[in-house]
Amino acid sequence: MHFHGSFPAELKRLVSPADLNANKGASYREKRKKTDETTNNTGMEKLKLDELNRVSIEEFKEQEKLPLVVVLDNVRSMHNIGSIFRTGDGFAITQLCLCGITAQPPHREIEKTALGATQSVDWKHYESTLEAVKALREEGYLIIAVEQASGSTMLNTFKPQQDQKYALIFGNEVNGVSDEVMEVIDECIEIPQFGTKHSFNIVISAGIVLWDFFAKLRL
Ligand SMILES: C[S@@+](CC[C@H](N)C(=O)[O-])C[C@H]1O[C@@H](n2cnc3c(N)ncnc32)[C@H](O)[C@@H]1O
Repeated sequence: MHFHGSFPAELKRLVSPADLNANKGASYREKRKKTDETTNNTGMEKLKLDELNRVSIEEFKEQEKLPLVVVLDNVRSMHNIGSIFRTGDGFAITQLCLCGITAQPPHREIEKTALGATQSVDWKHYESTLEAVKALREEGYLIIAVEQASGSTMLNTFKPQQDQKYALIFGNEVNGVSDEVMEVIDECIEIPQFGTKHSFNIVISAGIVLWDFFAKLRL
């Protein structure tokens, strides 16, 4: 199964780029105007599970992946780890690298938020994040810390290239990406923030960055 640049046609609910842009510009208010006055039906009912037409785990395994691995640098919370499995499944990442103290499946606490995505997303454990970085660099991955750092590139200005593989490192909930890892990265990407808090939750960060890469590379 192939989705380089576009989604496989047979995955009906997995929209094509054209579908994603179908309602571009139409505001919710405009769509409401088309409401059938007798039934008050907006035509926007929530889809049932069987209408989502998701791929099976076997089909997912065969599907072409986003050329991107997510590296977790000593992430403590198993709920965060599980949520990143689920997010990685949604964007069809190549692999999740669990480093250092980052817990590994199978684990009940990881499953609570992964909801089965530990079965679909390939994962690998490394004793240390530096070991993962070394291996991934040898495989041709560009090593990127997703972190708040001096000299970072803001996410909105980063332009991923089609022929490049990316390893995105997310850091520990308290300490962030470790200093020893920051010394060996190729690039650092930061998500701009406009509120009072120092940082985003790691899972939120992963969701924002993965969607941004997906949209820039595939749409
Ligand atoms: C809760 S943050 C770590 C704590 C943070 N370093 C601090 O000192 O407040 C966990 C991870 O989420 C990611 N993260 C959170 N906010 C971010 C932002 N604005 N830009 C890039 N990455 C962010 C980073 O990978 C970070 O290591």
